[in-house]
Order: sequence, then structure tokens, then C-alpha cells
Amino acid sequence: MLKIAIAGFGGVGRATANLLLSRRHRYRRIYGTDVRLVAVCGSNSGLYDANGLEADRLNTLEPALTGLDFVAASGADILIEAGPSDFRTGGPGLAYIRSALSDGRDAIVISKGALVHSGRELRRLATGSGAMLKISGAAAAALPTIDLLDQSLLGCNVLKVEGILNATSNYLLDAMTMRGIGFEDALQEAQAGGFAEADPRNDTEGWDTAAKLLIIANFVLGLELAMDDLSVEGIQSVTPRELKAWAADGLAPKLVGSLVLEKGAVRAGVGIRTYPPSDPLAHVGGKSKAIRVTTDAMGETVSMSHGTEPLATAAAALKDFEHIVSTRSADRPLS
Ligand SMILES: NC(=O)c1ccc[n+]([C@@H]2O[C@H](COP(=O)([O-])OP(=O)(O)OC[C@H]3O[C@@H](n4cnc5c(N)ncnc54)[C@H](OP(=O)(O)O)[C@@H]3O)[C@@H](O)[C@H]2O)c1
Repeated sequence: MLKIAIAGFGGVGRATANLLLSRRHRYRRIYGTDVRLVAVCGSNSGLYDANGLEADRLNTLEPALTGLDFVAASGADILIEAGPSDFRTGGPGLAYIRSALSDGRDAIVISKGALVHSGRELRRLATGSGAMLKISGAAAAALPTIDLLDQSLLGCNVLKVEGILNATSNYLLDAMTMRGIGFEDALQEAQAGGFAEADPRNDTEGWDTAAKLLIIANFVLGLELAMDDLSVEGIQSVTPRELKAWAADGLAPKLVGSLVLEKGAVRAGVGIRTYPPSDPLAHVGGKSKAIRVTTDAMGETVSMSHGTEPLATAAAALKDFEHIVSTRSADRPLS
């Protein structure tokens, strides 16, 4: 049996819980294990049931059932962390992840803050305790980034990474380019559609893209980048004149996180790049995301995705879950 706890129970946490519960028969069939969701919590309330929570109980949380001790006492083997992302402090997720990894419990991390703020420490904790730390949800989620580099391109030397990693800014830039509407109008549209934050600066100023790039660099490529190592520019200052000039030249502007590894040196940053129609990245429209990786032996690989949120992120986290279950099943039989 495998017991799961989810810390951070907003849109993504709830979607993850529901998807996990709906896939229990799959886990039993493929891995031969019963999966129980024993605890969920938000900032000041939560739920616990040693026998496993069912979907119809998840709507009403009980006060005070939250915090590190609550999650640890739940006896969960695996933590899924889906709290707010705050890369300046690590966010509330940092303490939950630290606690799980220190105790040897596997962690699936969806928020970016802790991974950017304290990635090195968390990697050390995981190595020290033998816990698995999985981070697909934090690294562009449904777009395969970590697994692409870690598995599909295994053994190759990565020379360059280019990613359209933020759906909100891509939507805004696409609307401004294709429909000729202004930044503020595009933003209002995205906010009305529920996929741009009330305060969109993390997305529009490039910080979310930078956080994902940094996580990819540090967790898969073995680099030790800090935010200060990246030059970060967003889309908030793009002018109608620039848009017109790019359109006249047949170029599509995209907000791109890029990383170049050359002769032992690293150049990393976020900013607008323009692509001709012959380039696949020119066709990544709306809320889609994409990554292009150039390696020494496999050349260029491009991956694109367009998933509906928050389901797509929940599915990315549960892909990590299955990686853990299959690895652990190979290590030691699960009851
Ligand atoms: N939305 C997406 O499509 C998407 C995609 C990829 C990654 N992400 C990442 O996923 C994470 C969650 O996103 P979301 O859209 O679900 O956000 P959200 O709706 O704001 O949910 C955040 C949750 O974290 C909880 N929380 C805050 N402080 C906590 C604490 N100290 N202990 C336990 N829980 C705490 C909140 O509790 P209260 O409700 O009590 O405040 C809330 O339940 C974010 O880091 C985001 O960057 C989101």
C-alpha cells in the first residue's frame, strides 16, 4: 500500500487529488499496489483519513488540519506539494519538502519557489536520505522538459535549450501579434478567462520562465545557476511599433528562456526572440508551450504541448508519481 499526502490544496492540488483517486484501479492493475490519499491541506485547514479519502469528501476541509506535523503524522509515504510559488523565499512548500526529504519520504513538487530558492539543499537532502525528488510539475508541467533531457536525450551533451515556457505570456504576445490588440486588453481577456493572475508580473516580466529555466538547468544539466545569473526581460514593454516591424518582416515574437553551453561557459536568460515561419517555435500559439534542445549527438529535438489546466499539471505530477512507484517496485516489492 502507498499513502499519499497533498500540501497545497488549490486548483492544482484538488485536480491532482481527483485524478489520483480516479486512477487507483490503474495503479493496482499495473503496479499491484493500493494507493490511498490519506491527507490534504491548505494554509489553515485540511482532511485526514488513514483508510483513504474519497472524492466526495474533498470539498469541505476541517480547520487546523495543516502544517508539517500534520503531514508527517499522516504516515504518508509520498508528499505531493502544490502550494504557492515564491522563488524569493522558497514559499510555504519549502518546509514541507524539506521535512519529507529529511525523513526519507519521496516528494513530488509542483510549485517552483523552493526548487529555485533552495534547490541545492533539497537535492542534497534527497541524496542523503534516499528519497526521490520529482519536479515535472514545476518545470512546465505537461510539456516534457525534465524527462526529455533526463531520459529521451540521455547520454548526449546538451549544447542549447530554448523554451517557450510560460503559457500566459505566450497567449498575450500571440493575441497582440495576431489580433493586433494592446497589452492591457490582452491581459484583461486572459484574466477574464481565468488563466492570468490578478498580479501577472511573474508571468509577463519573465520571472516564471526564468524560474523554470533555472530548475531545468540546475536539476537536470548539473548547473548551479542563481536568478542573478540570468538576464530577464518580459513582454510588458513591447511596443506596437516593434510588433508592426516584426510582422512586416514575417517574424513571430516569443518570450523565450534560453541557455547556451559553450566551451565550459553558460549563457542563460529570458527575453523576446523572433522566429521566421520556417521555425517550429514560430507556430507555438495561444497557451501552448514548447522546448527545443540541441545536443551533440541527437541534433535538435522539439517538443510542444497544449494541455488544459489544471488537469494537465495534475497529470504531469502523477506521471512523476508513476515513475516513483515503478522505481520503488523494482527496488522492493510493494505490499
Ligand atoms: N495553475 C496552473 O495551471 C499551474 C501550472 C503549473 C504549476 N502551477 C503551480 O502549482 C502551484 C499551485 O497552483 P494553484 O493554481 O493550485 O494555486 P492556488 O489555487 O493559489 O492554491 C495554492 C494552495 O496552497 C495553499 N497554501 C498556502 N500556504 C500554505 C501552507 N502554509 N500550507 C499548506 N498549504 C498552503 C493554499 O491554501 P489556502 O487555500 O488556504 O490559501 C492553496 O490551497 C503554484 O505553485 C503554481 O505555480 C500551477
